[in-house]
Amino acid sequence: MAAEVFVLIGPPGAGKGTQAQMLSDGRGWTHLSSGDLLRAASDPQVLATMQQGELVDSATVESAVGRAIAAVPDDQPIVLDGFPREMGEAEWLDEALVKYGRSVTKVIKLTVDQDEVWNRLQERGRADDTPGSLSERWKEFEDQSLPVAEHYAELGLLTEIDGEGSPDDVAERIAEALA
Ligand code: AP5
Repeated sequence: MAAEVFVLIGPPGAGKGTQAQMLSDGRGWTHLSSGDLLRAASDPQVLATMQQGELVDSATVESAVGRAIAAVPDDQPIVLDGFPREMGEAEWLDEALVKYGRSVTKVIKLTVDQDEVWNRLQERGRADDTPGSLSERWKEFEDQSLPVAEHYAELGLLTEIDGEGSPDDVAERIAEALA
């Protein structure tokens, strides 16, 4: 049987990357971050879009994520961080996974207060951690990604987890949800 696919959804700074990496370190799952894949491609136009906090066009993201999924052995669980984040990407993912005999197993939505996020991102200081980009990313999350969370809730796959507290606290809540 092909291995599982877990999806982490949440606003910017919710801790998706941190928790995906902890799942990867702790359980050996493959962590695929759409943001990291796009940053690694170093396309100036894509990087400019990211810096503004706008969504990169889906074809570009799907191509990067598709290549990354194809490189994962069939028996290896995957944790997707930041993808899908709009409905077209969710539909693309469902179809793309069929090829590998996979489907989305479980979706974790991390919730965090916007003030807490701002504190976290100011401390991190990535190129797109500016007030303008953060407010655009937050808006994109509410407009484009919340419908994705609702879609997975309708399929009975979504668990909402409080993303505040220490990374270990959040990891413990996720572990309970995955048990
Ligand atoms: P992406 O890189 O995915 O950025 P994001 O979604 O805005 O998320 P962040 O990385 O800011 O936050 P996170 O939730 O992963 O939190 P993290 O663990 O890093 O995407 C960047 C851009 O790429 C998008 O704006 C878009 O342009 C484009 N893009 C990406 N995917 C796309 C897609 N599917 N479609 C279209 N465009 C796409 O934590 C943040 C900070 O907080 C860190 O410093 C961390 O150490 C700290 N922290 C984490 N957890 C805690 C905690 N519990 N307590 C205290 N600090 C914590």
